[in-house]
Amino acid sequence: MAHATGIQNDSLQALLARERGRYIAARPRSQALAQRAQSHLLYGVPLHWMTDWGTPFPLFVEAAKGARFHDVDGHGYADFCLGDTGAMFGHAPEPVAAAVARQTQLGFTTMLPGEDAAVVGELLAQRFGLPCWQFAMTATDANRFVIRWARAVTGRSKVLVFNGCYHGTVDDVFVDLVEGQPSQRDSLLGQVYDLTQHTVVVEFNDLDSLQRALAAGDIACVLAEPAMTNIGMVLPQPGYWQAARELIRAAGALFVCDETHTISTGPGGYALAHGLEPDFFVLGKPVGGGVPCAVYGFTSELAQRMQASKSAAPPGHSGIGTTLTANALAMCAMRANLAEVMTEEAYAHMFELAERLANGLRQAIGQRGLPWCVSQVGARTEFQFCAQPPRNGSEAAAAMDHTLEHALHLYLLNRGILITPFHNMMLVCPATTAADVDRLIATLAAALDELLA
Ligand SMILES: Cc1ncc(COP(=O)(O)O)c(C=O)c1O
Repeated sequence: MAHATGIQNDSLQALLARERGRYIAARPRSQALAQRAQSHLLYGVPLHWMTDWGTPFPLFVEAAKGARFHDVDGHGYADFCLGDTGAMFGHAPEPVAAAVARQTQLGFTTMLPGEDAAVVGELLAQRFGLPCWQFAMTATDANRFVIRWARAVTGRSKVLVFNGCYHGTVDDVFVDLVEGQPSQRDSLLGQVYDLTQHTVVVEFNDLDSLQRALAAGDIACVLAEPAMTNIGMVLPQPGYWQAARELIRAAGALFVCDETHTISTGPGGYALAHGLEPDFFVLGKPVGGGVPCAVYGFTSELAQRMQASKSAAPPGHSGIGTTLTANALAMCAMRANLAEVMTEEAYAHMFELAERLANGLRQAIGQRGLPWCVSQVGARTEFQFCAQPPRNGSEAAAAMDHTLEHALHLYLLNRGILITPFHNMMLVCPATTAADVDRLIATLAAALDELLA
């Protein structure tokens, strides 16, 4: 019987076994390092996710620059994962690398601001149209701090998220809809609080559910990606955000727009391109060209409310911030990246190649009669194992097939192409070439031909 993805299980298993063998045979140095690291690193890696790629052992990287990297066995790769967006503007972009090199002679961290802080604040305000900014080390932290501010200024306890969302390892958001009921995600380790007490979850693109959830007047903020990008891709339906934005405002809740991935839409992110007017705007990962840092911006009205909340609280820890936040390396990296790397020209190149990629993939899939779709948010492209683009997290989750993903990703990896694990995301950067894109399309088409033979 044909599988829902259109690929028979026998061919899939055969291709996967062969590609695993090929991966192992070609990477003796990665394998040796993987064995060595087992002695002192849990799972043999510095972060346990690094074993989630579907490779027999982790790929050890020697160097990355622009749109490519090479591994310790000397194999070169065209990189369409780009550190899952951390390197969205290419690995070690020249202006950022130069700024960081200069800063290495001037100190890393003092817990005090320098000139870069004032300049970065100005660059962010000009670019995103929000007047006030604060910083964090990661997008996870930025979201965590924004949730705290939102609760403080509204005096409300609840956060509303969309089913299937991901906003980093912010505990509050690990609540899914299971058969229509909010349910704490089983995979979450060591969480002893009942997250469903303060987190409300609804499906994306469903205005009635959103309206019902907001009706009680106890939602401090709606935390959302404007297009979902972490459960495959779910695009907003026409008019959805305009109506949702009004509902959120009318309910006295704050709209937190997490643009960590959707910054692929354009230089000002999805919110600016589509007039979403967020109360809080969050951006991590690529904002410092790959140097760890994150930012969150907000309106003047919110700035006043935030200051009022802080003034009204007794002196002491706010629970917002970390010691290395806004350190000198991060600030100089953001200054260079915002001023010289995240340019209109860079985006224009990325859009052109992302179009080429999405069209090429649609053609390759269509010619083979597979019931798969391709979606795009600017420089970010995703193919999913369903005929129609999913409308919400449940539909997107139902379209996933991790074995098929692993097989395709490994096939590409063995031929010098990296795409993002966990789903089928491909990002192009300013250094990606048309030849890289064409090779990705042709290699994926060859994998499909083998699977369908
Ligand atoms: C939309 C979104 N927000 C936040 C994060 C968290 O980023 P980080 O892991 O860098 O904290 C991610 C990570 O994938 C993300 O996709």
